[in-house]
Amino acid sequence: MTAMPLKNVLITGCSSGIGLAIAVKLAKDEQKRFKVYATMRSLAKQDDLVAAAGRCMGKTMEIKQLDVCCEESIRNCVSGIPDRKIDILVSNAGMGLIGPIECQTIEQMKTVMDTNFFGLVRLLKEILPDMKKRKNGHIVIISSVMGIQGILFNDVYAASKFAVEGFCESLAIQALKFKLQLSLIEPGPVITEFERKVYEDGLKMDLSAADKETADMFTNVYLKNYKSIFQSLGQTAEDVAEHTMKIILAENPPFRHQTNTLYTPMTTLKYADPNGDLPIDTFYKMVFQHDKVFNASLNFIKLLRWRSNKSFDLGKPQS
Ligand SMILES: NC(=O)c1ccc[n+]([C@@H]2O[C@H](COP(=O)([O-])OP(=O)(O)OC[C@H]3O[C@@H](n4cnc5c(N)ncnc54)[C@H](OP(=O)(O)O)[C@@H]3O)[C@@H](O)[C@H]2O)c1
Repeated sequence: MTAMPLKNVLITGCSSGIGLAIAVKLAKDEQKRFKVYATMRSLAKQDDLVAAAGRCMGKTMEIKQLDVCCEESIRNCVSGIPDRKIDILVSNAGMGLIGPIECQTIEQMKTVMDTNFFGLVRLLKEILPDMKKRKNGHIVIISSVMGIQGILFNDVYAASKFAVEGFCESLAIQALKFKLQLSLIEPGPVITEFERKVYEDGLKMDLSAADKETADMFTNVYLKNYKSIFQSLGQTAEDVAEHTMKIILAENPPFRHQTNTLYTPMTTLKYADPNGDLPIDTFYKMVFQHDKVFNASLNFIKLLRWRSNKSFDLGKPQS
């Protein structure tokens, strides 16, 4: 006879990528410590998750509809969970947006903020009161290194993740009083649908509203290097899921956790200079003045990773 699952975990955005990988990783836990409510906005997209979950379906995993942009959908989903008991919330649903702001509409920008920031706020408005009452719960948010540091042509996406980080820093103080934990997972580039969608949207973008220099910078600098950055530095969704599981299982989970050690030197620049100039100057020089060295470094990292034939050694999974 198997032991009863201990923790109810609700995860958003499980139709693909990181959300799918986390849902599968937790549902397949050998010690069966989790009951996973894997949610997605369109149940028509559940085939990949069902295939990856295999025999866990209907046992340690249940799939539910949840659109983070719709309060009613969140309420229905949470109310359908026995006693509305969510021990761990993994707020993962999100979307990207790249390009010059002159070529993006305010509506597109609002959709990004509505999904990445207000999506989290809506979830917490529904789930936080129950967690406070029980004085128990762990809120895990898939943020990004772009929640710490902006990147060229990711202005609105970075703003949405900065909003998430500021919101969570404030909330974490109150959460402590209720014995709740908050953890921001900050991946660098991850090879998922996100990367493909964002790149394809960038290629199709109408750049006529931008001046020639900006349009050229976006096409011939940013988009040109986009794939090689993901190929050199990119993690898999499974890597990020493994990091997330370790944070969930940690006795004292950290408030922030970066998943990509190759990227950490860049975010360290932010903390090293209170004036904020160091990371901006470094990115500027890397992109516009030392682009050959930058590309050579990316190729070198790619080669090293190809030779080691794995992306990252995360050590043995915790029991
Ligand atoms: N990939 C990266 O390089 C990277 C790096 C750092 C952080 N992140 C963050 O990681 C998270 C997951 O991204 P990913 O890389 O796994 O991309 P992904 O494969 O595109 O997954 C994004 C998920 O979010 C869902 N979603 C979008 N809008 C939603 C809504 N309104 N309600 C519910 N679900 C919604 C998508 O559902 P549909 O299939 O219906 O669109 C999809 O399941 C995001 O928060 C992203 O910002 C990604």
